[in-house]
Amino acid sequence: TYVVTENCIRCKYMDCVEVCPVDCFYVGANMLVIHPDECIDCGVCEPECPAEAIFPDSDDRATEWAELNRTYSTQWPNMSRKGEPPADAKEWDGKPGKKELFDP
Ligand code: SF4
Ligand code: F3S
Repeated sequence: TYVVTENCIRCKYMDCVEVCPVDCFYVGANMLVIHPDECIDCGVCEPECPAEAIFPDSDDRATEWAELNRTYSTQWPNMSRKGEPPADAKEWDGKPGKKELFDP
């Protein structure tokens, strides 16, 4: 499965949802997550994310975010159409410490 990680927070570009063939993205206040049981591992979302926030679960950078994706994908609403990204998305790209800003 693929995993959405820290750099999605406050960037939330949503290009990922446009390409996912099984619509397995779920949306929170400032980031998205992937439902691990619905993801078919196609990998097309990974290069589409302008913030490079998506990794396969085999990648070390995904490890600490895997459980959070599982948890919130069962609580947040599904998203299959791209909305308007935050106006300041670019300013947040790559900022350290965004984990503290996670908003369930
Ligand atoms: Fe969707 Fe494929 Fe990305 Fe999984 S890897 S979230 S199925 S686009
Ligand atoms: Fe987040 Fe990237 Fe999708 S920033 S909303 S994972 S395109």
